[in-house]
Amino acid sequence: MKHLVAPSILSADFANLQRDIEMLNKSDADWIHVDIMDGVFVPNISFGFPVVKAVKQHALKPLDVHLMIVDPDRYLNEFKEAGANNISVHFEACIHLHRTIQKIKELGCRAGVAINPHTPIAQLSDIVEDIDLVCMMSVNPGFGGQKFIESTYRRIRELRLLAQDRNPNLLIEIDGGVNHQNSLSLLQAGANVLVAGNTVFGADDQMASIKQLKDVSIT
Ligand code: DX5
Ligand code: ZN
Repeated sequence: MKHLVAPSILSADFANLQRDIEMLNKSDADWIHVDIMDGVFVPNISFGFPVVKAVKQHALKPLDVHLMIVDPDRYLNEFKEAGANNISVHFEACIHLHRTIQKIKELGCRAGVAINPHTPIAQLSDIVEDIDLVCMMSVNPGFGGQKFIESTYRRIRELRLLAQDRNPNLLIEIDGGVNHQNSLSLLQAGANVLVAGNTVFGADDQMASIKQLKDVSIT
């Protein structure tokens, strides 16, 4: 499968959000990555339902919602109603992860688990066949524009191995510090979705930056 590119609107210009969404519509982006932060699970607050709904009104591509919030079960319905197509919850924030994943699927969304850089990959062993997506954090969640953590490559290979028999179609999404230097190596390690905030929205030519991420080829 050709890999997917999911620009993160955390780095968009919030005063010109419609313009930025229209740019993504015209670009080679596959999904729009939407980062929700509650100021409790992570030391930052991003935005909530009204903004997601406003984005949805203009977006022609699926919304890939990454919930960096405690007790995400409380808000799954509302995120679905706001327009989420994919919902990822943090492994570290879910006491009854299996139940949460079933709920996301019942809502008709792709179900994802996000995992912090220090949480062992083996912890996903008993959920890997129930999910569509792992959002593997390659920075500590909370902020855009951080430096990529190098141990991510080893963790991708470990997850690909874990999933190979029980969920060969698992999407492995890399989130944090993805750029034009590391994108090829990430795909070679076994990733197939690239999130990029700063690399896209910090570029002079944002559409070209998305195209460059999409055109990376491992063959
Ligand atoms: C970080 C967020 C990321 C962030 C990525 O907590 O989950 O999605 O927007 O931004 P960059 O690509 O700039 O590291
Ligand atoms: Zn994210």
